[in-house]
This record gives sequence, C-alpha cells and structure tokens, in this order.
Amino acid sequence: APEAPEVPELAEPYLREVLAGAGLAVEYVRAEGNTLYLLDDEGREVPVTDFAGGYGSVLLGHNHPAVVARAQELLAQGTPVHAQFSRHPYANRLAAELNRIIHRELGTEEPYFAIFGNSGAEAVEAAVKHAELDRGMRIAALAEEIAAQRESAVAAVASGTATVDPAALTRLGLTATGDASAAAHLLAAETERRNAVAVARPPLFLALEGGFHGKLAASVQLTHNEGYRAPFRSLAAQARFVPHDRPDVLKEVYAEERGVLLALTVADGRVTVTEREFPVFCAFVVEPIQGEGGIRVLSEEFAREIQEFSAAIGCPVVVDEIQSGMGRTGTLLASSALGLRGDYYTLAKTLGGGIAKTSVMLVRQAYYRKEFEIVHSSTFAKDSFSCHIALKVLELLEADDRLAYRRAAERGDALRAMLESVRTDHPDVIEDVRGRGLMLGIEFRDQSASTSPTVRAVAQGGLFGYVLAGHLLRAHRVRTFPTASALNTLRFEPSVGLSDAEIAQLETGLREVCALLRDGRGDTLTAA
Ligand code: F0G
Repeated sequence: APEAPEVPELAEPYLREVLAGAGLAVEYVRAEGNTLYLLDDEGREVPVTDFAGGYGSVLLGHNHPAVVARAQELLAQGTPVHAQFSRHPYANRLAAELNRIIHRELGTEEPYFAIFGNSGAEAVEAAVKHAELDRGMRIAALAEEIAAQRESAVAAVASGTATVDPAALTRLGLTATGDASAAAHLLAAETERRNAVAVARPPLFLALEGGFHGKLAASVQLTHNEGYRAPFRSLAAQARFVPHDRPDVLKEVYAEERGVLLALTVADGRVTVTEREFPVFCAFVVEPIQGEGGIRVLSEEFAREIQEFSAAIGCPVVVDEIQSGMGRTGTLLASSALGLRGDYYTLAKTLGGGIAKTSVMLVRQAYYRKEFEIVHSSTFAKDSFSCHIALKVLELLEADDRLAYRRAAERGDALRAMLESVRTDHPDVIEDVRGRGLMLGIEFRDQSASTSPTVRAVAQGGLFGYVLAGHLLRAHRVRTFPTASALNTLRFEPSVGLSDAEIAQLETGLREVCALLRDGRGDTLTAA
C-alpha cells in the first residue's frame, strides 16, 4: 500500500495507543452486512465478522441496501436536510409510527410526544431536562397553593375566626410572645423560611448500579462507572444508585432523601402545620437490559417494583432503550417484554439505520410540558435526512409481518445456544451467559490468579476483555468488545443477518480462548 503522508496525530492519539496495546487499532475501510473489511500488508481486503455491531447501531447490518438506497434517493432529491424552525411533517410521521408500534407493544393508547436529538446521550439529556422542567412547574404550583393557604390562615387568625394550635408552634421550635396574630405571623415566617430551604435543594435522580446512560454533563451523572462520572460530579445533578433486586434499598433511599414542604391549614377553627410531599426525585432512569454494565437483564419482579415505587412517590420512570431497543431483543422496546412501562423512553443507535446520527426522547402525555419545545432545540435535530432514514428503519422492522423482530429473536436464540454450549464445556473459564435476542454477553471468570503470569498481569491491569477481543480479532477475524464497566464480559450485538457460519466462526474463536485460559497459555493470547 502507498505510504500515507506524515500527518500529526491529533485526533485522540492516546486512545489509539491504548487500542494498539490490545491489537485493536485497526482501520476498517469498508462495511457490509455483518462484515467489516480491513486491509492487510499487501493492501487486500480482509473480512472481519462484526459482533460489536457498531456498538449496537447496526441491527439491520452495515450499509443495508434499502437504507443506503433511501439515503441516495433523499440526497438526489435535494431533501432540505437542515431546516430548523419550520414544519417537519416527516418528524411527525416518525413520531406517529413510533407511537403506533409502542401502543401495540404496551396495549395502551396514551400518546407519547417526541423530542428529537442527535445522539443517545443527547436524548437522555433531553429527558433529564424535561423531567426537571416538569418538576419545577409542579413545585411552583405547590408553592403557590401553600402560599395561598398560609395567607388565608394568617387572615383567619387576624379576623378572629381561627386560633393557633400551640402544638404547631412547639413542633417548629417556636415560642409565641404576643397575641394570636403575632403567633400566626411567626408560624407563617418560619414555614416560609423552611420551605425556601427545601425548594433550593437540587433534584436527585435514581439509577441502577451498573447503569450506563451516556457521557454528557447530566447523563454521565446517571452512569454508574465512577471513572466516567466522578471527575464531572460538580457539573450536574446527582443520582443515588440502587442495586438490582433490592426494593428495600429503594425504600431506604426514599426515607433518607424525601423532602416535605410545610403548609398552614385551618381545621375546626385552628391553624395547624401539615406536611406536603416535596418532589425531590426528578426521575428514575433504568435500562431494561444493561449494556455497558455487563448485559444484565432487569428482572420482571424488580421492574414491577420500580414501577410501583416510582408511581407511589410521583417520580417519572425514564426507560433508556438506546442499546436494548429498536427490535434488538424481538420487540421494539425490550422493556415491553418485561412488563415495564416508561413515562419516558430514549431511543438512538439503530434508529439512524447505521448511517444517520439521530435519537429521540418520548414523553407520556400525562407528564408532557409543551413549554419544553421552546426551550430545547438543536441545529441538527429532527432533520429531514435522519427522519426519513428512521422511517425506513421502522418500515424494514415492520415489513413481512414483523420478520426482523422474529429474526432478532431467532438469531439471538441460535447465538445464545452456541454460547451456552461453550460455557457447558468450559465451566472453569466462563462464569455466565446473559441477555436477550441479539444483545448477549458472556462473563469470564476472574483470571487474576491464573497460572500464567501474562494472564494474571492482564487481569489485574483491568484490560482482560480488551486482550481477549484483540486475540479474537487477530486470530479469528471476529470483532467483539468487553462491556465498558464490566471488563470480564464480552458482548455480542450482531445484525439480524447473522449467519450460522458466522456463529460457528465465533464459536471456534471462543473455544480456543477458553482452552488458552484453561491451560494458562497467556503468551499465545497476547502474541501480536
Ligand atoms: N444509553 C445507553 C443505554 C447506551 O448504551 C449508550 C451508549 C448511551 C445511552 C449513550 O449513547 O453513545 O449515542 O451518546 N452506549 C455505547 C455503547 C457507548 O458502548 O454501547 P451515545
């Protein structure tokens, strides 16, 4: 191949170096279906089977012919790609089609309004912002109601139709010095002061341990991985992270964090202090199947507990379907099969058909605030190109009596059966096989006590999954990656076009890796 002219390396050279360390810094020059092509030393294309699937964005395969044809058609027609602040009928059709499918899956009819974005994290940010706008408006309405009650209580005492309950004063640590009216004013001032403190508290989010929701300022605070989250803590509202299957912890967190506003109410001629629940919790953000957290499926029981808990405390549930959604597990929403209903949904990745960058945040009508449309926008969002491509994606998913969803489920079962068979033969190396449909992972047992010094070093250095991925790429021409926050888990998210031959190719690679680990042959695993 001709030598590339020397250019300074300024586009994330350190990341390239890290990838190179595990043999993963290859350049792909072409992509088609489940295959990525790299060039060998003679400049010939070498096919690599892509089990990373564009990190979940190419469920239909790379450069799906119908998606590419639609893109070419749109460009040839001179589609007005960027026309922010005009009518976007294509966005409307897309929202309607998403609603139609979601209603079918949930068995409901309540509309979900759509706010479009450009990336997954951006859809999460939009959900966070919308939930906070809604919370703020609910707080304002509550504060107004409490102020009116306070004023009428004070007026009732002034006019002699009510007296102040002495217990109310004691409760707030107050001692009345003057007449009833002075006591009422004292109570009013103290409740107002305490309410102002409560209202000034920042919102709090609930999220699951192991969860991943993106890396922008607000979304990264919902992402459990400490390395991604901690340096940016001061930029956005915080989350309390809850372990899976622990409804007791949910109750504990609520008891620790809940807030109240104090109202003055008149009953039987007496002014008393009553508590009103203050909405501290802005949203509960969950993935139905955690992707980056190691391919962990939310249990149906915990999904139900999250739903009931959130409804009871008036906190909306944001179901992040960015990785699990768009048909990957056999339904548009992985959560619909778990019986989980979102007040919000986020979708991205495959929504753009593998060529457009687009995302959407959906909000249930009961929570929707139209004011959001004025305060949130992007130059690029809701553009004609992405919307038309996303419509084509939905058309392809729904075609032939929903063949693509069935394919995802059936190919997923076939892939899973292979992974299970490898596990059965290597129980000493493989800890677990998890996931649904074409969102699968295998967890390797911890190798930090391996007989091989090389394997030990790699396992202790935290790069274990990347080294396995490097070997599979080099020796077997298979592309897979560990999940970012659970490095012993390799994930498999190929397209619905996955063939039996490709499954067999992965099987050969995995069986060899298992044998190398079992026999402590670390040098073969890391050999370049
Ligand atoms: N939410 C989930 C559940 C995700 O898996 C991701 C991305 C995001 C949000 C953020 O989306 O990258 O478009 O901004 N997951 C990628 C992955 C990084 O590795 O699968 P984004």
